[in-house]
Amino acid sequence: MKKTIAFCFAVLATILWTGSATAEHKATLKLASALAMDHPYMVGAQRFADLIKERTKGNITVKLYPSGQLGKGEREMTEGIQQGAIDLLVSSTGPLGGFSPSINILDFPFLFRDFRHVDLVLDGAIGQRLLGDFEKANIKGLAFWENGFRHLTNSRRPVKSVEDGKGLKIRTMENKVHLAAWKAAGFNPTPMAWGEVFTALQQRVIDGQENPIAVLYSNKLWDAGQLHFSFTAHVYSPAPLLMSKKTFDTLPAPERQLFLKTGSEVAKFQRKINRDEEEAKLAEAAKRGVKVTRDVDRDGFRRAMAAVYGEFGGQFSRAEIDAIINAK
Ligand code: PAF
Repeated sequence: MKKTIAFCFAVLATILWTGSATAEHKATLKLASALAMDHPYMVGAQRFADLIKERTKGNITVKLYPSGQLGKGEREMTEGIQQGAIDLLVSSTGPLGGFSPSINILDFPFLFRDFRHVDLVLDGAIGQRLLGDFEKANIKGLAFWENGFRHLTNSRRPVKSVEDGKGLKIRTMENKVHLAAWKAAGFNPTPMAWGEVFTALQQRVIDGQENPIAVLYSNKLWDAGQLHFSFTAHVYSPAPLLMSKKTFDTLPAPERQLFLKTGSEVAKFQRKINRDEEEAKLAEAAKRGVKVTRDVDRDGFRRAMAAVYGEFGGQFSRAEIDAIINAK
């Protein structure tokens, strides 16, 4: 009898010890992005941090580092993720092809029809495979958050057609597909880290840039003279939530699952607020003097940029490009 009681105590002690070891995995993690706290990246990040804190009973804290505090561009911050100097990052796909080449497949212009199409692909098998591919670069892809459909802004003139924009000097992300697309359309594109863009616009080193509405709004680009906005929607820009593989691997298995689950859960919330707030943000920009051109000749842009499918299409499987285009 004594032996049985002792055995039961031993089993109980083991269960309690293992349970508490997992429950008490304590850590303070750094989550970075290039954008400010009012941008949907960081609104999502705040929600993620709150849920992680609540779900780990305060054992894991996610500290937020907005506005490029941990690096002047997303490439630099992704290097930080690889090395383990930064634990979590929300980034556009801009520089990510340099780390995981397959992600560039999402950068083709006019690949996605609308947000429904985006969700089908990113939440389906293709999206999951692209997130998985980051592992080869020592990065854990947790979920697809969102930057949004990108539109052109400039300080010179209204742009309705490709012809209106010819020769405009615009900043692109450090991304070869984007760069080639704007070249093909007759613009004068120059790649630049985001941290340098506001000053370059202000000093008229460049005439314009292209980004989703939330970026225009959060960065008050009208204060840098970006008073012409064109609804080009030329490319959809996802924003993967990435985690350093080094950090991910230090987590006990239940916490790893928790990070994956919470990342995906917040993706739904983050994409929704990003989409729901676009029109109000554009209306606010218009109040600040931004002239909005809605009736852009998108077919003209589509035709002009189509050359990049020939130039870069061979780097990806044609079947996969078609699977994305035809997803319904
Ligand atoms: O244009 C970019 O570099 C990106 O869209 C930004 C603004 C850094 C957000 O990811």
